[in-house]
Amino acid sequence: MLGSCRLLAAIGEELERSRPFAGLTIGTGIHLEPKTVALLVTLQRGGAELVSTGNLNSTQQEAVDYLRERGVQVVGGPTSDPAEHDANLWQVVRARPQLLLDNGGDLFVRYLEEPYPGLRGGTEETTSGRMRLEPLRDRLQLPVLVINDSPIKQFAENEHAVGQSVLESFLRLTNRSTNGKRATVFGYGACGRGVAANFRNAYAIVSVVETDPVKRLQALLDGFLVPERDEALRTADVVLTVTGARGVVTGADAPLLKDGAVLANAGHFPFELDAEGIEAAAGGRVTVLEGGHMVNLAGPRPLGNSIESMDLGFALQARCLEAVATGAVGPEACVVPVPRAIDEAVAAAFVATA
Ligand SMILES: NC(=O)c1ccc[n+]([C@@H]2O[C@H](COP(=O)([O-])OP(=O)(O)OC[C@H]3O[C@@H](n4cnc5c(N)ncnc54)[C@H](O)[C@@H]3O)[C@@H](O)[C@H]2O)c1
Repeated sequence: MLGSCRLLAAIGEELERSRPFAGLTIGTGIHLEPKTVALLVTLQRGGAELVSTGNLNSTQQEAVDYLRERGVQVVGGPTSDPAEHDANLWQVVRARPQLLLDNGGDLFVRYLEEPYPGLRGGTEETTSGRMRLEPLRDRLQLPVLVINDSPIKQFAENEHAVGQSVLESFLRLTNRSTNGKRATVFGYGACGRGVAANFRNAYAIVSVVETDPVKRLQALLDGFLVPERDEALRTADVVLTVTGARGVVTGADAPLLKDGAVLANAGHFPFELDAEGIEAAAGGRVTVLEGGHMVNLAGPRPLGNSIESMDLGFALQARCLEAVATGAVGPEACVVPVPRAIDEAVAAAFVATA
């Protein structure tokens, strides 16, 4: 895995010479799985001490063991207990790191509850974290760069990688073909665009359902069918939700669904697809994959998004943390997108290895 993340490997080599993190501790709270291990090892090569914990439900014990062997202070292990997770996050913040690599704003929010001297700033991985931290700018007054707002993250991960991994998961979990099947995709944001395109490329006939008329037009001009919602459900062999919204398809829709229809959710929360309600109301006529949990991260051997897409996203992380550590960005960059120069440098490095 470490060798497969080519950008991170090259950045690690460079950071080993420049040592931007020498004498600094980085506190992290992101999924602990093989691809994040590659990021943490890269930061360590740049001289960082690391104090790290995972997220609820997603920590992999092998990743924890590997990091501990390499001298990373890993707080806690795999857990689905919110109280235990909360205590782990507090332990990371109370180690008083100079940089934070945050996911969902969990670490910065705790820092504000118990501020300490010496925090230089850090990064935030997600949109939900950005929304949580934006109203706190006045109190933070530190550089915090938001990775998800980079165009690279939007098209490389959310569009291309989510689209591919959702198709891969559908094929792996159902052993069904997509050829000539009718697939209906709810949502035409970055993720929905990728899902729709990948199913079309796999010879399905794809309809898109969008509540935003502008995005619906975009789907039409991209060559997808855009029928009314109920018609799109009535004709679908496969229904995919990827909106982030609640109750997109529910038990009330069961009478519309074809016999044998397969439903799956790729949005962050399982509440998009009311799995229990649909299965109960349809009386065994339809299948909801993995109880409506994110289909590309569920089931046997879930791999999530491709190594290349994560390598790009984590290269942005490493470069942004370097910029904060070295003072290349200051407090004016509080909860802002990745600086353009970093996007350009990471994009150029990837193209050069392609
Ligand atoms: N599975 C993964 O690996 C993965 C990766 C990244 C993001 N996500 C998740 O995927 C979801 C979508 O992300 P995005 O970046 O595409 O978001 P986005 O906001 O760009 O797009 C969502 C779209 O859904 C539309 N929508 C909302 N409610 C709808 C409804 N009831 N019916 C039809 N359309 C509706 C919106 O108008 C919007 O265009 C989020 O929950 C996100 O967290 C999943």
